Amino acid sequence: MLIIYSIQELQNHLNSIRNQKKTIGFVPTMGALHAGHISLVDKAKSDCDVVVCSIFVNPTQFNDLSDLEKYPRTLESDCQLLERAGCDIVFAPETKEMYSETELELKRLKIEDKSWTNGKLVDFGSLEKVMEGAQRPGHFNGVAQVVSKLFQFVEPDKAYFGQKDFQQLAIIKSMTNQLGMPFEIIACDIMREPNGLAMSSRNERLTKQERDLAAVISKTLFSIKEQYKSKSIQDLKALAEEQIRTVPSITMEYIEISDSDSLQPINDFKQSKSAVVCIAVKLGAVRLIDNVLLY
Ligand code: PAF
Repeated sequence: MLIIYSIQELQNHLNSIRNQKKTIGFVPTMGALHAGHISLVDKAKSDCDVVVCSIFVNPTQFNDLSDLEKYPRTLESDCQLLERAGCDIVFAPETKEMYSETELELKRLKIEDKSWTNGKLVDFGSLEKVMEGAQRPGHFNGVAQVVSKLFQFVEPDKAYFGQKDFQQLAIIKSMTNQLGMPFEIIACDIMREPNGLAMSSRNERLTKQERDLAAVISKTLFSIKEQYKSKSIQDLKALAEEQIRTVPSITMEYIEISDSDSLQPINDFKQSKSAVVCIAVKLGAVRLIDNVLLY
């Protein structure tokens, strides 16, 4: 497995792979890898000739500086996991390789920088006005900024994302469509701990007891899935709030039942061909999100 730190070296290497008519599967990550990420690598391996995984803790998608500082950085053990999974290339750039000082300064000043669109008009409209977009101003601009750069450097045939970040996936699909990026975005299932907790790098920051308590999050979502045919959306949300309140150390940020394409909240299941329930909570200082597709 090759570990590459520079964009130039990555591009030289990938050009020679493309010249050999090999297909490239790409798994972007921020490291602190777990079985969920490895399942993306497995899927990429089964679809493509060469698998590239990026590890880069992207400063422009954090709206909370302490969250960025506390984000686990475990490059060495991540590379061991990736090597065992059969990944071919790890791209692990430093921040200065990815961003100019101007781009970082704009972020510090909280000025929305759209230079990553290369002058094209990209508008996520109401997709970014709800849930994570509403709670974390500027977050999706930072995600789109880094993913568009990574896509330009890697030029994959297929790129793989977990459905745990359901809204992120919708934003990235919208971005690739709007920028006319010609490759396929593959959505992969959420991987869960035995108690149902969705796998996430943030789980590293939970104690054993907190991980046990966090099981209530997915239990709540799956109980909505069991009951959605017989209850109103209002009642389902009230039941969910009650269930989360049984664990006093967890506070709910939102629970939304939404159309799974537009991500807009619905009041009646008849309004939507496919619906998803999404939740965000705080457990101590750790923010956790999860979702379950209802139908
Ligand atoms: O989902 C993530 O880990 C990140 O948001 C991503 C897509 C790697 C961009 O930094």
